Amino acid sequence: MPSTGLIDLKTAVNYAALKDRNVLITGGASGLGKGMVHMFADHGANIVVGDVQESLGAALEKELSSKAKIKFVHVDVSSFASQVAFLRTALDFLPRNEIDIFVPCAGVLGPPTQVSPAPPSELANLGIPADDLSGRLIGINLTGVFIGTLLVARYGLGLHKTPKPEPAKSIVLVSSLAGYTGAEGSVEYTTTKFGIRGLLRGMRKQLAGMNVRLNAVCPFYVDTPMTGHAIPVLQQLGIPVTAVGQVVEAVARLATDESAYGRSIFVMPEGLSDGGDDSAGGHGGRAFSTEALGEQWTVLVSGAMSDDIGS
Ligand SMILES: NC(=O)c1ccc[n+]([C@@H]2O[C@H](COP(=O)([O-])OP(=O)(O)OC[C@H]3O[C@@H](n4cnc5c(N)ncnc54)[C@H](O)[C@@H]3O)[C@@H](O)[C@H]2O)c1
Repeated sequence: MPSTGLIDLKTAVNYAALKDRNVLITGGASGLGKGMVHMFADHGANIVVGDVQESLGAALEKELSSKAKIKFVHVDVSSFASQVAFLRTALDFLPRNEIDIFVPCAGVLGPPTQVSPAPPSELANLGIPADDLSGRLIGINLTGVFIGTLLVARYGLGLHKTPKPEPAKSIVLVSSLAGYTGAEGSVEYTTTKFGIRGLLRGMRKQLAGMNVRLNAVCPFYVDTPMTGHAIPVLQQLGIPVTAVGQVVEAVARLATDESAYGRSIFVMPEGLSDGGDDSAGGHGGRAFSTEALGEQWTVLVSGAMSDDIGS
């Protein structure tokens, strides 16, 4: 049975283990996903990148094609048919026709959701829901990750021919610190990032039995096109942000650390830590104690992201 202890974050990441591994990644045309694609290409992996942003994806493929076997494919992760087509194209392209590492990174951050009380008589005019009641963001950030992960696990990892692969296969989910603390006002986003933890918790044991390592990265705010508008506000408050490279490193670790089964890594400006998302760690709760994070981290979490009523 694989180890389920805390991840040893002091050892060096085994980047050499990425050579010739087959990587499938969504949301890879921009931000964190793009950083991950560069890292995988730098270390000799074969990569299929999916995204809705075709021109950025095509440019990335062109930029990296001299150093890696890489293909960009349009995918809209909120569409089941699009994800099936994406996976089929990827399996045709990749050597051995199977995936070794999957990172469903595509995501969006919507505007805050407000209750905005209104009289029930207005229900008569609600044929088409307002954008913030449509579930669009949940369709991308959560349903999209659920569909992609299940499709890849069922059809993409080659488990039908090799039931217990070695080295183990790796799926790295992208949740968020908001998946532990909540992010007051970002109701839909918070829902999706907690939901990704649900996927981690609901599947990690079953997949571990098949030598598939399901883990998650949970970054604090990072300066990317998704969060660009929020960063100046944090800077004004004197709150540092996580660097893209820190998240990329956490993904590389989870993609290669053969002892990491069912763990989450918090990626904070001050560094990485195991989220303690199991019974021994209070299901992630203890990781937020001052003892675990240190005084400054606790101030960050309670000040910048707390959804405690009254705080
Ligand atoms: N930036 C942060 O502070 C932060 C913190 C924690 C978690 N995350 C998560 O990291 C992931 C990447 O975010 P980012 O900050 O790099 O943002 P980003 O906007 O730079 O990248 C997200 C990518 O997802 C793609 N995408 C959006 N909708 C899609 C769809 N329907 N189908 C396919 N691709 C789609 C976008 O085109 C974009 O390239 C997201 O899941 C986000 O929730 C980000």
